[in-house]
Amino acid sequence: MEKPRTNRAAWLATKQTALAIGPAPYTPPKADEIVIRNRAVAMNPIDWIKQVAGDFVFDWIKYPFVLGSDSAGEVVEIGSAVTRFRVGDRVLGHAVGTDPKRNSAAEGSFQTYTVLLERMASPIPDGLSYEAASVLPLCFSTAACGLFEKDQLALGYPSLSPEPKGKTLLVWGGSTSVGSNAIQLAVAAGYEVFTTASPRNFDYCRKLGASRMFDYADPGVVPELINALSGKTIAGALAIGAGSPEACVAVVGASQGDKFVSMATFPISFNQPLGQKVPMLPTVSRFLWFSASIWLKTRLRGIRSKFIFGSTLAHNEVSRVVYADYLPRALAEGRFVAAPEAQIAGAGLESIQAALDLQRKGVSARKIVVSLPA
Ligand SMILES: NC(=O)c1ccc[n+]([C@@H]2O[C@H](COP(=O)([O-])OP(=O)(O)OC[C@H]3O[C@@H](n4cnc5c(N)ncnc54)[C@H](OP(=O)(O)O)[C@@H]3O)[C@@H](O)[C@H]2O)c1
Repeated sequence: MEKPRTNRAAWLATKQTALAIGPAPYTPPKADEIVIRNRAVAMNPIDWIKQVAGDFVFDWIKYPFVLGSDSAGEVVEIGSAVTRFRVGDRVLGHAVGTDPKRNSAAEGSFQTYTVLLERMASPIPDGLSYEAASVLPLCFSTAACGLFEKDQLALGYPSLSPEPKGKTLLVWGGSTSVGSNAIQLAVAAGYEVFTTASPRNFDYCRKLGASRMFDYADPGVVPELINALSGKTIAGALAIGAGSPEACVAVVGASQGDKFVSMATFPISFNQPLGQKVPMLPTVSRFLWFSASIWLKTRLRGIRSKFIFGSTLAHNEVSRVVYADYLPRALAEGRFVAAPEAQIAGAGLESIQAALDLQRKGVSARKIVVSLPA
């Protein structure tokens, strides 16, 4: 008889508390799921945002909960309908525990064994470490939702031999993790990409495939972009980073082409010490003010816009398109790179809280990763 697996997790016991390590149940896979033994997990802003903001975000989550969206590890068990993976395969996957339709601690990445949907996972090619692969999932998914979902920018799908579409996409925030994936996916779908970043990251964005870079902190960046896009047909804009929706609405409104702005960044920062109460009235007022002003600005310019929720692709065909049809060969052939570079912040579940704190301090074209050695 097989030995029962012992699982441990970095638990969020209740809102606004530090993660605490403790035993966790081992959950076997359902038909369309796999279970992996995590070897590396990556940190995302939403992990500390949920921790700091409590029920202001993801209010469906019941405590105790296991956060974490980015997993890389080896398959230890597969569901009865799984065809793409076998036990022992090295995979990366987007752990969708915080998705409202999943809402499951077993599907968080901050634990030894994580349940993944088969359609949200891809094989890791030889030569790519678990740490490097773990930077991809949530931000790859978020970029894919914004670019390809039918109620977002609805771009053509990525392929290994893209046909030029004759359109230019604006990716505001190209050096973010989401932006690094968005640039590559849009280029693989045949679009020219203009992007914004700090000048120190212009080369980085160029290597990912962007054709022109602009400094988002330059006060003249909006007119500069409008000027650079004149005579071109835009495919819309993907807005990432503080202030990006307003800037993208101004650029898209003044350009010819598809009048759509897909928004990744929540308009409230929540970047405050853990345990400090989030002030209800100013937070709600700021959100209402943002929503009303962006509604007015888009309506006046004939633009449509929508927030991205980075796990919705799990419930439509985009998950298969990007995780099964595109990414495995693109990664193996070096046409898509795992970016940004992993910055390893420690080893073991015990290192995750400090790694989240490091991500909260801010990164530049880096992804904070924790190794989970055997
Ligand atoms: N909606 C969703 O489902 C979803 C999912 C994932 C992430 N997000 C959101 O998407 C955003 C990016 O997340 P991430 O993990 O990719 O971030 P990240 O990699 O941690 O972001 C760091 C980068 O942000 C850039 N940056 C800072 N301020 C900026 C601004 N005002 N405009 C443009 N870029 C700016 C910096 O660029 P330089 O160093 O070049 O200055 C830096 O490289 C966050 O707001 C996050 O909460 C949303």
